[in-house]
Amino acid sequence: MKASSSRSASLSSSSSSLFLFLALFLLYGHGYAEEDLPCIPKDTGHSSYVCVCNATYCDTLHRPAVPPEGQYLLYSSARNGGRFEKTLGFFAGRGEAVPRSVEFILDTHTSCQTMMGWGAAFTDSAAYNILSLSHASQDQLLRGLEYNLGRLNMGGCDFSWRTYTHVDTPGDTNLDTFALQPEDLEYKIPVVKRAQAMSERPIKLFASPWTAPPWMKTNNDYHGFGQLKEEMYQPWARYFVRFLDDYAAQNITFWGLTAQNEPLDGYVPGFSFSCMGWTAEQQRKWVAGNLGPALREGGYGDVVLMIMDDQRINLPSWPQVVLGDPEAAQYVQGIALHWYMDKYFTPEVLTETHELFPDYFILGTEACEGDGPLEVDVVPGSWERLEAYARDIIVDVNHWVTGWVDWNLALDMTGGPNWAENFVDAAILVDKGAVRLSITSPHEGKVSAAAFRNPDGTYAVVLLNRSDLEEMVTVQETQVLYVVQVNTGD
Ligand SMILES: *[C@@H]1O[C@H](CO)[C@@H](O)[C@H](O)[C@H]1NC(C)=O
Ligand SMILES: *[C@@H]1O[C@H](CO)[C@@H](O)[C@H](O)[C@H]1NC(C)=O
Ligand SMILES: *[C@@H]1O[C@H](CO)[C@@H](O)[C@H](O)[C@H]1NC(C)=O
Repeated sequence: MKASSSRSASLSSSSSSLFLFLALFLLYGHGYAEEDLPCIPKDTGHSSYVCVCNATYCDTLHRPAVPPEGQYLLYSSARNGGRFEKTLGFFAGRGEAVPRSVEFILDTHTSCQTMMGWGAAFTDSAAYNILSLSHASQDQLLRGLEYNLGRLNMGGCDFSWRTYTHVDTPGDTNLDTFALQPEDLEYKIPVVKRAQAMSERPIKLFASPWTAPPWMKTNNDYHGFGQLKEEMYQPWARYFVRFLDDYAAQNITFWGLTAQNEPLDGYVPGFSFSCMGWTAEQQRKWVAGNLGPALREGGYGDVVLMIMDDQRINLPSWPQVVLGDPEAAQYVQGIALHWYMDKYFTPEVLTETHELFPDYFILGTEACEGDGPLEVDVVPGSWERLEAYARDIIVDVNHWVTGWVDWNLALDMTGGPNWAENFVDAAILVDKGAVRLSITSPHEGKVSAAAFRNPDGTYAVVLLNRSDLEEMVTVQETQVLYVVQVNTGD
């Protein structure tokens, strides 16, 4: 940091919704600053707007040069204002009067946790959405995100278009039929490699399973109330090793693992999407007796293992059970946390957990909006959703959380795809453009049609004529006669 701590920056805030990001930290600039590319706003009819990117343009921030001594850089975004607008300001001098303001005292001598970073999940659906774009648009989406954490689903999750695991052959406890799936080979791996190639820093990848193969479970299903059968504890631990081996064969190395995504879901009767139930005691036993030793024997003793991967409500009780056992604790490095229902549980449980287990990091591993049954799935340009994210991140990091990983890196405009119809919001939405419309004919014949509404509001109707005779076609828009009489002849 350049300024001395006695200096202060006073910022006028004309709008209560001003969202400030003050770049006081030391940035390793290149000595010059490339021009930032501004947001191309699009009104979506919600509380704020979205920034539109296409194949040739995306708003981009360049790493700024360190401001001169006595000056600071301010990036600000506002509901009705700009996005990451950069201004250079001067610190008020020592003892200089500053206007009445909300005061914060920054103590540069009190250091807390070391941050691990930020990221999002390369789910099957995120990869599918990204690959649906043109190559140039994919680059625009992945470039400049500066995420250094990435989560992958190990086997299918709800953000997949089908249910599957890597060993769906019942009874194959030797894992002879274990195989990476098209979702890995054709979707996630290519996208991860593109992101890695474009990133200036290494991306720490971690994998989370949603469910074991149904035949390993008490309910023989991918979802619903079901747990791992005890005789499957060892095959399920070896499944993790095979997953790491098979990804390594594709040149993808994992930094970490979570033992199970949301282990309590599989104790909820009728739970609607991919899950498997664990109590903290069951997870303790399995980590100590099976997963930890299997990873070590498989050559993955240095892969970071995170427990819990669930909500604040489990703190500090879950880590107390698992980390309270030295046999299990020796294999664990971190506690993974989801944000759902954060408003009902005080962040003090995070501090309490940190104080009980200061040697174990806490990492936010999942968050999204639009998940509640009464919530709208996708609200592009929602300022309230931005505020909720920003506030949760700020509260979490001030309570010892070392980083925050968003849920799907990108979703489509409906918040999917999701086989269980558990559609949610995402920070990046892929607008594939046209929306298909219903078009029907009372006489199913040799002429077929498909219709679309384009993003610019125009309509496209595609006709196919398989008839040998000349056909006249009439397209009628619901009631009103609209486009008329197209001669399909050549
Ligand atoms: C992409 O976006 C830029 C900036 O809005 C615009 O100038 C350009 O025409 C767009 N390109 C296409 C193909 O729409
Ligand atoms: C992995 O990397 C090696 C060495 O660069 C290369 O020869 C091999 O083809 C790669 N394998 C895959 C599946 O990408
Ligand atoms: C389409 O319509 C024309 C008549 O205009 C006809 O001659 C032709 O064979 C039809 N079918 C195809 C496949 O072109």
